[in-house]
Amino acid sequence: MLIAQITDLHIKPERRLAYRRVDTASMLEAAIAHLNALDPRPDVVLATGDLVDAGTADEYGVLRDILAPLKPPLFLLPGNHDLGPALMDAFAQHRHLPRGGAAVNYAIEEYPVRLIALDTTVPGEAGGRVESAHCRWLDERLDEAPDRPTIVFTHHPPFRTGIAHMDRIGLANADALAAVVRRFPCVERVLCGHLHRSIQVRWAGTIASTAPSTAHQVTLDLRHDGPSSFVMEPPGLQLHLWHPDSGVVTHTATIGAFDGPHPFHDGGKLIA
Ligand SMILES: [Fe+2]
Ligand SMILES: [Fe+2]
Repeated sequence: MLIAQITDLHIKPERRLAYRRVDTASMLEAAIAHLNALDPRPDVVLATGDLVDAGTADEYGVLRDILAPLKPPLFLLPGNHDLGPALMDAFAQHRHLPRGGAAVNYAIEEYPVRLIALDTTVPGEAGGRVESAHCRWLDERLDEAPDRPTIVFTHHPPFRTGIAHMDRIGLANADALAAVVRRFPCVERVLCGHLHRSIQVRWAGTIASTAPSTAHQVTLDLRHDGPSSFVMEPPGLQLHLWHPDSGVVTHTATIGAFDGPHPFHDGGKLIA
């Protein structure tokens, strides 16, 4: 099973630039073209939050139009820049999304790897939180199938990254989430967004990670007083390849046009 992850799309109304600089709409179109051209094609695409920038209906309309050509099934999760009710209105055909502004927690059962979305957003706040009720909900879902390989996906990562301004808007109550995840070795990964970079850590008996944004990246600055800033490093997405013998192997793909591929060999010999 091939699971693609895109994150932090930050679509603006009328395709406006984010932060007066970033053409998030065109960059998402490039990500969708990249995904559609993949061979093998991903079985699913997870979008791990900050789908739009301010949570307005206008933005979700633009997002819906840009996502429409995407061929694999898509599973959405809100981030701190999203608003659940507007997201649900714009994607009402996504049957797994709850109605009426409820937390976006759901489990997808029909693939070899179970996919469990866990909503970490707190209305009006940049940082996230795992509510106790959500922890119990996750515990119950994992307990239903403790032997099936499972991926949990959230927006806020449950670990400190060392990027200080992002850690200040990190995930509260992460210890409670860790206590649940640690009980279930079937959790192959906790896949997150929010950081606009690829970061991995050993966490709660599994691997937790964040993914690059399809648009701008958060500056890699590990100073304790590093200012909040972004950088136009190449955009990316992640491909999580699951096989029953090897578990999940994660690849970070760079989106863009690059020279190559070029052969290593000519006439059966390594090119000297
Ligand atoms: Fe973001
Ligand atoms: Fe975020």
